[in-house]
Amino acid sequence: MGVAKLLEELEAGASSGRYVPICGPVKGKLLGMLASIARPKKILELGTAIGYSTIILAHTAPQAKVLTIDIGNEWTEEAKANFKKSGLDNIEFRQADAIKETKKLKGPYDFIFLDIAKEQYAAVLEDCIRLLPANGLLVADNASWKELKEYNRLCLADKRLRHLLVPIEDGMALSLKVSD
Ligand SMILES: C[S@@+](CC[C@H](N)C(=O)[O-])C[C@H]1O[C@@H](n2cnc3c(N)ncnc32)[C@H](O)[C@@H]1O
Repeated sequence: MGVAKLLEELEAGASSGRYVPICGPVKGKLLGMLASIARPKKILELGTAIGYSTIILAHTAPQAKVLTIDIGNEWTEEAKANFKKSGLDNIEFRQADAIKETKKLKGPYDFIFLDIAKEQYAAVLEDCIRLLPANGLLVADNASWKELKEYNRLCLADKRLRHLLVPIEDGMALSLKVSD
């Protein structure tokens, strides 16, 4: 099955008879365009769910190795099966708590997609900045949520970042690392 068809199936399956909080086709298109333009070598994704956004990232940036981390839930086995179905060979899944795991990672990751529990974004921010090289991009989903007020405030105040909240659906925040 092609990746486009698989993504369509995952979109349909995420909202019929159950709810899976995938970023969806509109923000997914922006995410894929950003990954395509950025041409990253290494991508870090925090928050996998069924692997929908992971597959977008791995497909639109085929030159990149994608490490996706999830604490684990009822969708974990499904994500692994979806990675197999995608035929993509540039995805590594790791089951771990992103807050602990990002502290252990060595960078650089030139593209990071942040999509874990919303109240935990601020807790991983410093490690995400550490892992990014100059010109590395941090993309945070659901950025218009009130739970992300503190995260956006921290990003805006941080001199190492150029931060922009893009008002697409429930928001995507882009933070470009401009200096160490
Ligand atoms: C919104 S879903 C991810 C959706 C996915 N990025 C997409 O757009 O297809 C959030 C995921 O983050 C995971 N998660 C929440 N807190 C986490 C943490 N501290 N560490 C790792 N994963 C976490 C949940 O288990 C869940 O699968």
